[in-house]
Amino acid sequence: MKRDGFGSRLGILAAAAGSAIGLGNIWKFPYITGENGGAAFILVYLVCIFLIGMPVMLSELVVGRKGASNPVGSFKKIRPKSKWKFTGVLGVATGFIVLSFYSVIAGWVFAYISRAFTGKLVAIAPEELGDFFGGLISKTGEPIFWQFIVLAVTAFIVIAGIQKGVEKYSKILMPVLLGLLVVLMIRSVTLEGASKGLEFLFKPDFSALTAKGVLEALGHAFFSLSLGMGALLTYGSYINKEEKLPSLALQITIADTLIALMAGVVIFPAVFAYGLDPKMGPELIFITLPTVFHEMPLGGFFEVLFFVLIGIAAITSTISLLEVPVSYVSEEFNMPRKKTTIIIAFVIFLIGIPSSLSFGVLGDVTIFGRTYFGNLDFVASNIMLPLGGLLLSLFIGWVWGTKNAIQEATNEGTLKFAFASAYGFLIKYVAPLAIVVILLYATGVIS
Ligand code: TRP
Repeated sequence: MKRDGFGSRLGILAAAAGSAIGLGNIWKFPYITGENGGAAFILVYLVCIFLIGMPVMLSELVVGRKGASNPVGSFKKIRPKSKWKFTGVLGVATGFIVLSFYSVIAGWVFAYISRAFTGKLVAIAPEELGDFFGGLISKTGEPIFWQFIVLAVTAFIVIAGIQKGVEKYSKILMPVLLGLLVVLMIRSVTLEGASKGLEFLFKPDFSALTAKGVLEALGHAFFSLSLGMGALLTYGSYINKEEKLPSLALQITIADTLIALMAGVVIFPAVFAYGLDPKMGPELIFITLPTVFHEMPLGGFFEVLFFVLIGIAAITSTISLLEVPVSYVSEEFNMPRKKTTIIIAFVIFLIGIPSSLSFGVLGDVTIFGRTYFGNLDFVASNIMLPLGGLLLSLFIGWVWGTKNAIQEATNEGTLKFAFASAYGFLIKYVAPLAIVVILLYATGVIS
C-alpha cells in the first residue's frame, strides 16, 4: 500500500505550524512572559527558538523524511539493529503522556467555549470568576466529558489520514485562527491605556530576568515548537523529497513565534488597559481575560472569538500528538489506522482521567510534592522532551553525521541550503550542551 503523504507545500506548513501553535503559544507563553517580566524574557526566548529550536526542528524533519516512517521505524531504517530505535520509543511514550494532560487543559477551553456561546461566561462578575474557574476544574464529571470530546475530535481527524484529515483540517483551521487573532489584536491595542501593555511586551527590563527565566525560555521553546518526541519527525516522513526542509523549518519557527507574540499583543494591552495583573500565572486566560471581556463593550462577542481561537490552536496540536503513537502502532504492528486510532485515543483518555481529577478529588494525592497532573507534566515537559531532543541532536551530530543530514535536507545536494554549516555546528555542539543544562536544572542537579 502506498504510504499517505501531504499534498501541497501550503498543506505541510499549515499542519506543521498547526502542531507548533497551540496552548503553548496562547495560554502558556503569555503567562510565563508575564511572570518573567516581559520583553527581556521574550528576547531570550527568541535566541533559544532560533539557535537551538530551529536546528533541532530541521533535524526531526530530516530524520523523518529519510526514514519515511514513524519515529521508531525511521531510526531503524537509518541505523538498523542499533539501540537508536529507543529514541523513537521514548518519543511515542512521551506522546501518550503529553496528550493525556494536554487534553485536560484543552477540555477546559472547550468548557469555556460552550459557556461563551450562550453568553453565560461574559455574565459572570469579575469577583466571581476565580470561584467559577476553580469550581469548574475541580468538578469530577464535566472536565472529563470535555477531555473526551477533545480526544474524540482529534481522533476523528487523525482517522481520516494525513492528506484527507490532518492536512485538510489544518488548511481550514489555521487561516481562521490567524483571522481571529488579527481581529482580537486590533480590538486590544485600540483600548484606552493599551500602550502600557505593549511597553511591557516590547521594552526590555533586564533586571526582571533570572537564571530560572532563561531555562524556562529554553524549555518552552522546545515545547512550543513541538520538539523532542518525534511529532515533526512523523510529519517529515509524509513530505516528499523535493520540498526544501530548511526553509520549511524557518517558516514554522517564524509562524510559531509570531503567533505567540500576537497572542501577547491580544492579552497584555487588554490586561493593562483594565488595570489587571499580568503575573497571574496559569489563570491568566481563564480568570484575568474573562474579567476584561466582562468589562469591555461587546465583550461577549470577542470572548467567543478568543476561546474558539484557543480551541482551534489546541486541536491542531493534539492531532500531531496523536499521530505519533498512531503511526507507530499502525506501521510497526500492521494494524488498521482506524482501529489503532480509536484504541490509542481511548487509552490516552484513561491515562488522562486522573490528571483531570488532580484539580478536584485527587488534589491532595501528591507524590514528590506534586499531583498526578503535576508529575506527568513535569516528567514529560522537563525531562522526556529535552531528553528526546538531546538524543536526536547527538544522533545527528555524532552518529549519523551532519553531512548525511545535510545531504538529506538538500535532496542529495540538489536544493540550496545557505546555512548548512551553521546548522551543523549548532546541532553538533550548541544544542546538546544547552539541553544538558536544562536537564541538569530540571532534575535539580544545578540550581
Ligand atoms: N507545540 C504545541 C503547543 O505549543 C504542543 C505540542 C504539539 C507539542 N505537539 C507536540 C509539544 C509535540 C511537544 C511535542 O501547544
